[in-house]
Amino acid sequence: MYEGRYSRAMCRGCAVPSVETMTTDPFDLDHDRAPLAARVDGLFKTYGSGDGVVHALDGVSIGIRRGELTAIMGPSGSGKSTLMHIMAGLDRPTSGRAWLADTEITTLDDLALTELRRRRIGFVFQAFNLVPTLDALDNIRLPFELDGRRPTAEEAERIEAIIESLGLGERLRHRPHQLSGGQQQRVAIARALATQPDLVFADEPTGNLDSRSGREVLALLAAAVRDRGQTIAMVTHDPVAASHADRVVFLADGRIAADKPRQSAEQIAAHMLAADQVAA
Ligand SMILES: Nc1ncnc2c1ncn2[C@@H]1O[C@H](COP(=O)(O)OP(=O)(O)OP(=O)(O)O)[C@@H](O)[C@H]1O
Ligand SMILES: [Mg+2]
Repeated sequence: MYEGRYSRAMCRGCAVPSVETMTTDPFDLDHDRAPLAARVDGLFKTYGSGDGVVHALDGVSIGIRRGELTAIMGPSGSGKSTLMHIMAGLDRPTSGRAWLADTEITTLDDLALTELRRRRIGFVFQAFNLVPTLDALDNIRLPFELDGRRPTAEEAERIEAIIESLGLGERLRHRPHQLSGGQQQRVAIARALATQPDLVFADEPTGNLDSRSGREVLALLAAAVRDRGQTIAMVTHDPVAASHADRVVFLADGRIAADKPRQSAEQIAAHMLAADQVAA
């Protein structure tokens, strides 16, 4: 079910950028040049205890800048999903704090978190996560349905524009099983954008798509950032996908290992290779 699955994140001292990329004080939250859609400060997430203890997050502080596509990369087990889930209010840290814009989410109760996710966060998953019994249009309108209301005239206009820009006009009365993977993912993107959320979290959004559909989905996410000013944080293992991002954050062992402005796919691949060699 859509509700209660993922959510997303924030940060407080924006990302701890690497020295060469730092243009503003990352802990100055009021600077105009990089207003934050979300931030986390001093996040730790620990599983188990004693010999079996796992530090999934080991002191992460980062800010997701508004109007940017941020790629989150790192080896399997480095903490990407854990970070995203805490930022989205789907999981709670062992210690540390998280904000969505000015709302501290780490102090909210479950009900308030659910509402915040529904109204202010969008999700795009690897497995699409559409409701199989609803057609494309009703899937796109689902966030409003869950909120117990109909879209306003302005929102309906926005949804129509999104549907058109995603090329879904001919498919609105199709149910998910009648759509290709790429089309299903476009419906999921339309749903994520429909409420104009503070932040969209995309967890390996091209992971289940062939390379052509994957490229189309990435182009649509990048266009949502460029044309609509949408903020998107995307977990990916794919250097080509990450090369569409304005910024690439690398996690390793539950810590931020690097934080870089837009990189080419070759630069990203080289960084991943170097990180693997350090870990080996
Ligand atoms: N519920 C849990 N109980 C115990 N350990 C967990 C739990 N969830 C995550 N972990 C551990 O925390 C660490 C980080 O996991 P996480 O899922 O955030 O990694 P990831 O970077 O998303 O990896 P992947 O690329 O494989 O999805 C891993 O070592 C994982 O085994
Ligand atoms: Mg993961």
